[in-house]
Amino acid sequence: MSGAKFSKNILCIGAGYVGGPTMAVIAAKCPQYKVTVVDINAARINAWNSDNLPIYEPGLLDVVKQARGRNLFFSTDVDSAIKEAQIIFVSVNTPTKTFGEGAGKAADLQYWELTARNIVKVASSDKIIIEKSTLPVKTAEAMGRILNANEKGIKFEVLSNPEFLAEGTAIEDLERPDRVLIGSQLTPEGIKARDEVVEIYANWVPGEKILTSNIWSSELSKLVANAFLAQRISSINSISALCEKTDANVSEVSRAIGMDTRIGSKFLSSSVGFGGSCFQKDILNLVYICQSYGLTEVADYWERVVLMNEYQKRRFVQNMLKVMFNTVAGKRIALFGFAFKADTGDTRESPAIDVAKQLIEEHAKVVITDPQALHNAKIDLADYADKIEFAADPYEAAKGAHAIAVMTEWKEYKTLDYKRIFSSMERPSFIFDGRNILNHEELFKTGFNVFPLGQPNHKHF
Ligand SMILES: NC(=O)c1ccc[n+]([C@@H]2O[C@H](COP(=O)([O-])OP(=O)(O)OC[C@H]3O[C@@H](n4cnc5c(N)ncnc54)[C@H](O)[C@@H]3O)[C@@H](O)[C@H]2O)c1
Repeated sequence: MSGAKFSKNILCIGAGYVGGPTMAVIAAKCPQYKVTVVDINAARINAWNSDNLPIYEPGLLDVVKQARGRNLFFSTDVDSAIKEAQIIFVSVNTPTKTFGEGAGKAADLQYWELTARNIVKVASSDKIIIEKSTLPVKTAEAMGRILNANEKGIKFEVLSNPEFLAEGTAIEDLERPDRVLIGSQLTPEGIKARDEVVEIYANWVPGEKILTSNIWSSELSKLVANAFLAQRISSINSISALCEKTDANVSEVSRAIGMDTRIGSKFLSSSVGFGGSCFQKDILNLVYICQSYGLTEVADYWERVVLMNEYQKRRFVQNMLKVMFNTVAGKRIALFGFAFKADTGDTRESPAIDVAKQLIEEHAKVVITDPQALHNAKIDLADYADKIEFAADPYEAAKGAHAIAVMTEWKEYKTLDYKRIFSSMERPSFIFDGRNILNHEELFKTGFNVFPLGQPNHKHF
């Protein structure tokens, strides 16, 4: 399809949780642009071209259908798409490095750098390259060097436009963002490129919500936003442990502190711990950057957020063990939910992975149910396939179980028929509510022994 009838050719490299939804919204909002999304993973691209999208996200299919084939295209032909584009968003994965210097903390930039090198090799005209992936501060400098070392006389301007969407609410977040951040060099070329990208978002985002900044602030802001969000979860989770010792109720504490406008009420629910592909990786990346600048105290401060999260996951299983008479060996335990949060099928870094593994090590018979994440759960736990059962139906999962542990705050778990579930379980029957979403009094009256997080428990013995 020729790009001539479109006013801009926009490309996104990487058709994942960020690239797919972000470009679908740009295409839906801006029919005047041609938006192409490419990936080296052909199965993913095929799925984007079908009605069975590769990721579950409320409202996403409608947005994709609105634009796909009109001005939104998914393809594996990376090179042709690079040639044609004036503006290239790069949204490839940037996981934690697992090898060599910085292993376990630093960001693995190999996919980003390979993409940059490929752009240089294939391009035949000037381009704006946008960091959509989350990257360490100062990456744009290295990328600029790689890109502009070409001998073809082509100029590349590197910008930073980090993505703040949250999985589960991606479409809403993209359609009505709290803010869009665009960082650039403050040179005339940098500002010109920045204004071109501002123009894209201005098609639907109010001007006052489009922030511009220097490129290093933009790169760093994304890491800091995730560090602050995760810090709130670790903070309230640390208090949940203290509540359990003191008969205080963490939900009451959250409500009381959250009404303070200086604190705010969001991200104050205690849970088994934060998950998702970003929080841990981005904090560790921040820690690594601080360490590499010799800021040991700053690095240690942020590392505690991750360590507290590990503690909370461990503590959850230790509590299950203690309550279930110090052994779960041979006991069937149903995990309600495996996704790292509700409304997504994403299980990356889900606390349920650690909980399942710890329970298997204790020789429990683990059964997992989830409305969207069973496919990913099977991949995550492939090494334990003979020790785990998967059940699409929560009633089936709970049948014959000694305990249920709520891992994900899916709203359907609030309205299950727990009397029916109770009648199918072993006695004594336990519920560990790792999200504090169930009606604990009701469950207790039904006969369950109920163990919320950071709240007084309700037990019959
Ligand atoms: N998932 C989120 O909620 C979220 C939110 C904000 C920012 N981010 C950041 O966005 C980036 C992407 O995250 P994601 O969750 O979309 O990752 P993802 O793993 O779902 O998607 C990345 C895609 O890039 C593709 N890819 C890798 N190398 C490629 C190459 N050379 N050419 C073409 N395609 C290539 C992969 O095949 C994959 O499909 C990360 O840096 C992440 O930190 C993620």
